[in-house]
Parts: sequence; structure tokens; C-alpha cells
Amino acid sequence: MQREQSLFEHLALDFVRVTELAAIAAARWIGKGDAHAADGAAVDAMRAAMSRIQCAGKIVIGEGAKDEAPELFVGEKVGNGKGVALDIAVDPLECTSSVAFGRTNALTVIAAAPKGMLYHAADSYMQKLAVPPAAKNKVDLDAPAKDTIRAVAHALGKDVPEITVAILDRDRHKQLIKDVRAADARVQLFTDGDVAMAIATCLAESPVDILMGTGGSAEAVLSASAMKTLGGGFFCRWRPKDEKHIARLRAAGVTKFDTLFSAETLAKGDEVTFTATGVLAGPLAEGVVFAADHVTTHSVVMSSREKLVRRIETRHAYPAYRTGRRQAGHMA
Ligand code: FBP
Repeated sequence: MQREQSLFEHLALDFVRVTELAAIAAARWIGKGDAHAADGAAVDAMRAAMSRIQCAGKIVIGEGAKDEAPELFVGEKVGNGKGVALDIAVDPLECTSSVAFGRTNALTVIAAAPKGMLYHAADSYMQKLAVPPAAKNKVDLDAPAKDTIRAVAHALGKDVPEITVAILDRDRHKQLIKDVRAADARVQLFTDGDVAMAIATCLAESPVDILMGTGGSAEAVLSASAMKTLGGGFFCRWRPKDEKHIARLRAAGVTKFDTLFSAETLAKGDEVTFTATGVLAGPLAEGVVFAADHVTTHSVVMSSREKLVRRIETRHAYPAYRTGRRQAGHMA
């Protein structure tokens, strides 16, 4: 069947070059104990590669405000300035400390949509619930964990003890973990990376059925962007951690803290793209693998209009590999 590629399908594929180079740059810092350097390498590589993309992009979710982030800051214009006006959300390195300590689940991520379509306020925390497509209309963020688990089990045709709930391993989740175990479901704790874990609920090859708990708000928009293609349910609500966060959100125009967001309200419309490359292996992608004369990267590219999910394994021959090293500051 012949099908014309849409502009956004093209863009999602263009972004993979950007996330790949950022992943290679960050991967040089795996296990070195320096989260800041790993993040900086990913940011530099992402920014340089981004300038070659044909679009008039504006970062709506990035490394922070202009005064705290020299690059990829919120409001920064990216792309070559020609073509479609885009909202762009980036996480140049999701799971910086996993990279610093050589753990798992690190990604470089870009989501994009036409101007005005990605939700953005300020960085804080959100309570999140992610479920597979079959359970999307059967769950409620405010319901007790046991009811959500039962609803998902029923929608998936599983028994409750077969349900796996992924939860960030944080003290704030102690009660949630107890509740899930009391409901007789399995808990999969993870140290970092709730973007990949939210998406994992929609991947047949992943054992994760539900993501519950509180994590970053930027990560919520990135997860929502992928859910637009995968069709899963993603629901969240602000959970600022302290007065400082509340003040920051108010300054960004948030007046109601009880608004319920969904994938559809965080990433609006039909033209939403999600592109990610693995730095360290996780449920979404394998990590970067260095060989003598090339580097292999593993990426996932999604475009919501066509509901396309591409997995791309790229072998970067020596020149591109060297570029990644130079961008990470390793080579003259
Ligand atoms: P960073 O790489 O930006 O630190 O994010 C990793 C992460 O685990 C996210 O996936 C998650 O949403 C957030 O941190 C949770 O925040 P915290 O570590 O403060 O609990």
C-alpha cells in the first residue's frame, strides 16, 4: 500500500538524528559519577544537531529558565527557522544519575507538536497513572490503588496477582507500595525514568501493566506525547513538593492545582511526535554500544496521526562516532 509521509512523520524521523547524537555524547559519561557532565554533553550535542532541523521550533519544556540553563532553555528558538512552527519538549538526558552510576533506563528524548499544542507551565511534580489502551477508559486517578489494579486486570483479562505496577523507588511512595502489595499485585520498583515506565504499560513485550506514583511534570508531557500514538491512558495532576514549587507554578499561571490532565490535554491534536534514543537499556530501548570502529544506537520514533511506532537501530560509522566524541569534549 502506498502512503504519503506526513510532515510530522518526517520531522519525527529528523529528530532521531538529534537524539542519537545526544545519546552517544551522554554514553561517554556512563559510570563516571558525574551526572552534570553527562547532562551537559547531551545538551551540547542535542543543541548542535537541532539547529540543522528544518523547522521554526520553540522549546516549551527544556533545561529550565534562561538564567539557569545556558542552552535548550524554555523559550529558546531551535531549528533552522524555516518551515512549520513547533512546540518542542526536550529531555536531553532522562535519568542523569542512572548514567552517572551506570544503572538502567536512560534516554534522550524529544517530543514535538504544532505551536500551542504542548502543555507547559513550570517544572514541578505530578501524580501520574499510566495504563494500556484496553484500560484507558476504565480507570480513575483518584481511585484507590486496589480498584485501579482490579479494573486493569479485568480489561486485560488477567488475574490480579499477574498485574505488575511500576513505582519510582522513593520514600513518598511507601504507602502506595503497601497498598499495591495489599491488593495482591506485584510491585516493580525502579530507581529513575518514569517516561520509559509509562510507555512500557503499552508495550506487549514489557511485564509492566500500570505506572503509579509521583514524578516530574516535564516527564509527564513527554510520556503523554508517546501515549498519543500508543493509545494508552495517561492521567496526572500537579503535586508540587513545597511552597517554592507552588510559587513557581503560580508565577507560571497555574491557578488550579486540582485540574486533571490526560494525554489528550497535555499533548493536543493529531500531530504529536515522540523520538527517543536509549543511553542505558530499559523497557523502551537498548543502550548505546561502542565498538572499535562504530557505535550502535537504538531509538523509537512515534508519530500520532499515523499511529506509527518505528524502532531504529543505527550503526554510526567512524566519522559520526568521532563527532559524538568531539561534541562530548573528548577529542580535539
Ligand atoms: P532526571 O534525569 O531529570 O533526574 O529525571 C529522572 C527521574 O527519575 C524522572 O524519570 C522522574 O520523573 C523524576 O526523576 C522523579 O524525580 P525525583 O528523582 O526528584 O523523585
